[in-house]
Amino acid sequence: MKDIVVSGIRSTGNLHLGNYYGALCNFVKMQEESNCYFFIADLHALTTHPDPAMLHENVKNILAEYLAAGLDPEKSTIFIQSDVPEISQLYLLMNMHVGIGELMRTASFKDKARKQLHLDTHANESEDAIEKEIISDTSKNRVNAGLLTYPTLMAADILIHKATKVPVGKDQEQHLEMTRRFARRFNSVYGVELFPEPTSYNFGQASIKVPGLDGSGKMGKSEGNCIYLCDEEKVLRKKVMRAVTDEGPQVPNSPKSEPLENLFTLLKIVSTPDVVSYFEEQYNNCSIRYGDLKKQLAEDILKTTTPIRERILDIRSNDEYLRRVVAQGAERARESAARTLAEVRKVMGFKAF
Ligand code: TYM
Repeated sequence: MKDIVVSGIRSTGNLHLGNYYGALCNFVKMQEESNCYFFIADLHALTTHPDPAMLHENVKNILAEYLAAGLDPEKSTIFIQSDVPEISQLYLLMNMHVGIGELMRTASFKDKARKQLHLDTHANESEDAIEKEIISDTSKNRVNAGLLTYPTLMAADILIHKATKVPVGKDQEQHLEMTRRFARRFNSVYGVELFPEPTSYNFGQASIKVPGLDGSGKMGKSEGNCIYLCDEEKVLRKKVMRAVTDEGPQVPNSPKSEPLENLFTLLKIVSTPDVVSYFEEQYNNCSIRYGDLKKQLAEDILKTTTPIRERILDIRSNDEYLRRVVAQGAERARESAARTLAEVRKVMGFKAF
């Protein structure tokens, strides 16, 4: 039996190197040997970006980028989350077994709610402050229930196909842990073995975090520090050359500052081991020139992104092809989703008259 694989990316802008190395490049590899469902999480995008004028364009961008990066509709089921209403139904049913408390304790919820409410991300008292703000906020930009129940929707995405492997970056670990908990709880409440417990997958390696080039933290859309797959060569080189560094090592074998650690992390992801050891050596004997390191880094990123970028434009303008891909994907995804939903409904006690 082939492994069942599910993963998705929110349609909140173009794909960046974090999305690519954290997730998409593994999607492409996994489709060769597994039964894969890859989707565009347009419902999840609504939790923070509900702009109707951009919704479809954003979905189309990610779809074109998926295909340009090598996802093959003949090998994988590629679909749009909102095209599969069974997911929303399972989400509703799963929510009946999920506590508001556990959702409120989710790190990503607290982060996003804090940002939305403009609360201090580091203050200790913000736990309480956040709760008070959420409860009393009646403004148009209030934190919505969709953001709170984000992990339930993600669990529904995964469990509806009974996936066992989920290729994602490190930032999604907690969501996956919750998915496993919800699966276990459902099985135990109804005394069944309906859902397997999925794990994050990165070909035997720990899941990764691609850093930003602004000195700290991860690369992310809301951090504004992204290198995009569709960046023009000139733009990309400029971004890399502007990466934050430090004044350079003063004594041999000194520990690296965070910005430097980040540059080396990226180099390890995109370059060959001999390139990495060359610059490690230069760093350790204090002869390193950061300009050379950055030039090499840009060169090696471009080796991956250039062919993808060239394909994106072509694919994006081929509406007929895109229509066919999503129609076929929706049909296949719905078939699998409907099977699981029917089992869930039966177990929960729904009966036809
Ligand atoms: P999203 O859209 O934020 O990110 C999509 C994927 O990219 C990975 N990623 C990164 N990996 C490494 N380093 C980074 N800097 C970096 N930035 C992003 C994420 O880990 C993710 O794999 N909740 C998900 C979308 C989702 C999903 C699912 C995923 C919805 N349902 C079901 C798997 C299965 C999310 O917000 O990803």
